[in-house]
Formats: sequence, structure tokens, C-alpha cells
Amino acid sequence: MAAPAPAASRSAYGLAGRSSPRRLSEISGDVEERLPLSIGEFSRVLGGGIVPGSVVLIGGDPGIGKSTLLLQVALEIAHQVPVLYVSGEESERQIKMRALRLLRSADGTGRGQAKAENDATLLIPESLFLVTETNLSTMLEHIAEIRPQLLIVDSIQTTTIPELESSAGSVSQVRESASRLRELAKSSGLAVLLIGHVTKEGAIAGPRVLEHIVDTVLYLEGDRFQSYRLLRSVKNRFGATSEVGVFDMREGGMVEVANPSEAFLAERMVNAPGSAIAVTMEGTRPLLVEIQGLTSPTTFGNARRTPNGVDFNRLLLTVAVLTRRVGMRLGEQDVFVNVVGGLTVSEPAADLAVAAAVASSIRNAPVRADAVLIGEIGLSGELRMVGQMPSRLREAAILGFKAAIVPRRLRRSEPWPEGIQVIEARSLRQALDHALMGEQVEKEEAKN
Ligand SMILES: Nc1ncnc2c1ncn2[C@@H]1O[C@H](COP(=O)(O)OP(=O)(O)OP(=O)(O)O)[C@@H](O)[C@H]1O
Ligand SMILES: [Mg+2]
Repeated sequence: MAAPAPAASRSAYGLAGRSSPRRLSEISGDVEERLPLSIGEFSRVLGGGIVPGSVVLIGGDPGIGKSTLLLQVALEIAHQVPVLYVSGEESERQIKMRALRLLRSADGTGRGQAKAENDATLLIPESLFLVTETNLSTMLEHIAEIRPQLLIVDSIQTTTIPELESSAGSVSQVRESASRLRELAKSSGLAVLLIGHVTKEGAIAGPRVLEHIVDTVLYLEGDRFQSYRLLRSVKNRFGATSEVGVFDMREGGMVEVANPSEAFLAERMVNAPGSAIAVTMEGTRPLLVEIQGLTSPTTFGNARRTPNGVDFNRLLLTVAVLTRRVGMRLGEQDVFVNVVGGLTVSEPAADLAVAAAVASSIRNAPVRADAVLIGEIGLSGELRMVGQMPSRLREAAILGFKAAIVPRRLRRSEPWPEGIQVIEARSLRQALDHALMGEQVEKEEAKN
């Protein structure tokens, strides 16, 4: 039988022996107050603003724009409440220069254009404080003095606790620093935004070390060679996960992309073989993306399958179904698939567009330019229904697409949304018949 825990071990768990259970019904808990953000894309990913007392971790590859984005947030929030920006990576001068660059162009914070440096300086809010510091205890002293309501730490890997033996950036340093900041946040209501570097393996400071400690984990991702940035929520105690914000990284900072689908389709070559449009759901938002496929005869030995932005195993499955169920000879073809705009699409709903892009390339027949393709492919070559079809179709209609090729519905309770012709297909082969122009896959099949 377990004996009551002695006081010492209780405090070791951070309970400090002072807590007392209360009736849930008596605890006040209205909708939490949030610090509103006019950077709408950021706010939406957080679930509607910054929650006081919460700790948010923002991870991302080097140079992707983490410091830029959080400085924009600081410049904005400091108009409402005191903000402390702690940097262990850059000098105060560097940060000032970035702030001026952001304020000089109107699109950065949306607070008007300041041409000259003086004008830009005037736009810096009085209650934005900056310090370059890596020592956590000194940081806590500054916090006690300035009493900010929002703390930004750039980055958690440079934050150190000198008493700990291990070196800066080590797992124990990072974990301990983050835990102490969390305790401060929970006890004082201070909101904390932490920047975290992503390791080579793609995790923030070692696998899952920080994810448990914080309330919300966001990743800023994007192709280094493209200007689009996606802010993706992978954990959120105060909002939906897998919500995505889209930004364009410009001289004036991160600019929200109001209509991402339009942006991602901007460079599309209409009526060129090897291109198909998929509608994926990123959180609650449908996103139209162009999927490109290219097949080319294999030169040495094994045929290669090279996905860029789609899952390797799903590509293998799609190629196998095209080979076995549609009769396309892909065995001696290298297959390349690319998602335009540096995006990553993990949803099976994009299967049909991937298959159509590959089929279109090997047949050298373009996919109908005015159609989107939505559907998951099953191993028997059947098309499977995917979720949230009405919002996908509505988005396609808004962007001017005339038709959508989708899986056949079993239940016909609700009518399809208006404004777009919906073509239902039972199998991949039927869908390709509708999608590929000047091409009858069925006939081809008869020959095999
Ligand atoms: N004058 C400028 N005009 C346009 N873009 C710029 C300018 N100066 C910097 N940038 C962009 O800002 C990016 C760096 O952004 P930022 O420093 O916010 O990234 P970060 O994620 O904090 O990087 P790190 O991990 O190195 O701290 C650069 O890659 C560059 O593309
Ligand atoms: Mg940085």
C-alpha cells in the first residue's frame, strides 16, 4: 500500500505542498482573454491571439524568418502591452536595423509607410524593450523590472543556466530553461514566445524535448529558394492543430498571403502535360496546389521514383496502381513528382492529382486545365471519398475552376455546392478518362 508522499518529494514535483483541490464548477474560466494580433494568419494559427500565461515554441530551419516574424509580432503587441524581446543571437543594433526595415515598408505591420529612418524610429512603440542576454537568471531580473506581458526569447538554444554543468544548447540546458520560463508564465500570466532551432533530424532541440513543455508548437517552413512560408501548428492547447498560415517573405517582412491558392497557381502553364490541380485541406482551409509529374525512360537499372513534396510511399502506391490497374507501363520509367511552391502535401486526397500528373506526362496529354482533381486511390484502383468535400469544391469554384473530378458518393443526402460541375468517377481509370484531354485510357487498356 502506498504511503502518503513526504513533503520533500511533493515539492520535487513542483506541487510545493500548497495546492488544494477546488470544485471545477467554482473555478472561473470564461473564454480566455487573448492579446489580439492584427497579423491575421499568425493569430489564426494560434487559435485567435496570444493567450496570457501560455508558452509558444516556434521552430524552423536557419534563415527561414523566425526572428523577423516575431519582431513583427513584438512591434505590434507593444502598442497594447509592454513587450520584452531577449536575443542571444543578434546584437541590439542588428535588431534595430531589422525593425526599421520592417517599419519602413507598409506591408510589414500594416501601420503605414515611413520613408525616412526618423519616421520609422517614431513608429517604434515606447513599450518595446530589447536586451541581448543568454543568462536565464539575468533575464528573469529584467522581467521582474520591466514587467512585460509578452516575452520573446530568441532563441531557447542560446539560453543558459550557468549552474548547470552542461554546455549551452545541450538538451538539459534547453529543457531546464524552457521549464523555468514555463513556471514563470503559469504563475505570472506572462505570455512567452520561444524561438527554437531545428536539428538536422528536423526536431527542435532533440526529439520531443521541448514539445512536452510548451503549450503550443508552431513550425515555420518553406523552401529556402522560394518566398512562401507556411506557419503550421503541430500542437496547440488553445486551438486546432494542423492550422496553417501562409506568408510571403519580402523586404518588409512576412506579408500575409490573403489568397494562397491563387498565389500557388500563379505560374501554372495551362495545357502542358504533366500538371494537375489538387485541393488539399490545411487545417480548416482548402488549398489549391499544382502537382507536376514527369516520366522519363530509365537509363541504368532500377527505375527511380522521386517525390518532392509528396510522401514517397504514397507515390509508390500510386505508381503501382497506375501500372497494375490502369495498365500504364511505368516499370521502365523514372517518375518525378513535384508540388509547386515548395509545399508539402501529405493528404491522400491529393492521390488522384498525383496519378493524373504522372499519367498525363507518360501519355503526353494535358489534364483539363479547368478541372481540379480530388480523391484517394485504393489498391484496387478505386477512388475513395475524402473529407470536407464541400469546402474543397467551393474553394475551387471561387478560383474559377469549372469542373471537379471526385470519387463517387455512396450517400447522396446533400447536393454538391453550386458553381462547379462535379464529375463523379468510381475508379482511377474513369477519372483519368475524364481528366486527360484527347486521350482514351480505356482503349489503351483494351490493347493490353
Ligand atoms: N533586406 C532584406 N530584404 C529582404 N529579405 C531580407 C533582408 N534581410 C534579410 N532578409 C531575409 O530574412 C531572412 C532571415 O530572416 P531571420 O533572421 O528572421 O531568420 P531566422 O529564422 O531568425 O534565422 P536564424 O535561424 O539564422 O536566426 C534571410 O534569409 C533573408 O531572406
Ligand atoms: Mg533568428
